[in-house]
Amino acid sequence: MQIQVGIVGAGPAGLMLSHLLHQRGVESVVLDTRTREEIEGTIRAGVLEQSSVDLMVDTGVGARVKELGMVHHGIELRFGGKGHRIDFADLTGGRGVTIYPQHEVLKDLIAQRLADGGDIRFGVSDVQVEDVTGDRPRIRFTQDGTEHELDCELVAGCDGSRTSTRFLIPAPNPRQDHFRQYPFAWFGILAEAPPSSEELVYAHHRNGFALMSTRSATVQRHYLQVDPNDTVEDWSDDRIWSELHTRVAGADVKEGPIFSKSVLHFRSFVCEPMQHGRLFLAGDAAHTVPPTGAKGMNLAIADVHVLSRAMAEFFANSDRTALDAYTATALPRIWRAQHFSWWMTSMLHRMPEATGFDLNRQLAELDTVTRSRAGRTLLAENYVGTPFE
Ligand code: DHB
Repeated sequence: MQIQVGIVGAGPAGLMLSHLLHQRGVESVVLDTRTREEIEGTIRAGVLEQSSVDLMVDTGVGARVKELGMVHHGIELRFGGKGHRIDFADLTGGRGVTIYPQHEVLKDLIAQRLADGGDIRFGVSDVQVEDVTGDRPRIRFTQDGTEHELDCELVAGCDGSRTSTRFLIPAPNPRQDHFRQYPFAWFGILAEAPPSSEELVYAHHRNGFALMSTRSATVQRHYLQVDPNDTVEDWSDDRIWSELHTRVAGADVKEGPIFSKSVLHFRSFVCEPMQHGRLFLAGDAAHTVPPTGAKGMNLAIADVHVLSRAMAEFFANSDRTALDAYTATALPRIWRAQHFSWWMTSMLHRMPEATGFDLNRQLAELDTVTRSRAGRTLLAENYVGTPFE
């Protein structure tokens, strides 16, 4: 089968790319090894930047996020037993973020692609991308026991942090991997309870970081910094609530039955360049951020915003200029998000070897950021995200 763009991966990057390409008259096939049910049922991040929501609305996939998403115009930083509000609306000229789970974004994109006659192959296996430096790259895969071949003009590697497509860019030349590991993890829970506060609370505490987030009026999402070797069995419900009460001291933590527990590992990663021949990486296949600040899904969307335009220009005018510039165009935003996620992480988490000096230095940094309008503005502008060019 011949197709303009073969897309490996039906996550936020792959599905949004397919949707944006279709809007620009470019047809694609999306492949994923997971089933539709797995993709639509996996709990991930939940915060959309204003630009991500705007792009969904402007391209016709925004009805549900507008109806069900919760717009937040601020967050609270809590340290030393007190809350300090960062007022996004006031500091960024009315911008905000929307709480809307990633799997709901995926449901919206899948429904729209299928309504538009899009081709998404779920549950495929043995995906192999070949000849990306030639004129006609191929993707071989197996579906329902039958081998298939996609004859593509361009290939997009949107296969997430467990990517295989990234490794088609030879290392160390040209591919350079920039990597940082953190000595802690997040323990994430979902609980049936009313919201503990109107806005997200990011708490610094000598026991470690805690974050209170939300999913709906009846489901809350909370995270605790834990040892990266901890497992779900190490954390009883009682231990979780007790630790949340301690770390988010002074807030009214509302308890309820916990129905999901998981451990999230922390990494910062960027691969450069994000392209090789006719292969282009987007989203977690090319970069990972630690979750503090919730940039992951937004970066994937920003990547494919750039990539879809460059691909459309290639097909419309046989002009590779924008495609050749893809990495250079996408990277500055990616590194800004890397810096922001690293900054929020290092300001709020306890390092295992932290001394009294380190804890007091962090409190002074939080005090500096929250007492100055310039400090709050820096945080707010980065949290709501910079507009797309
Ligand atoms: C959520 C995750 C984050 O990493 C964050 O910074 C805020 C909220 C969430 O899953 O709700």
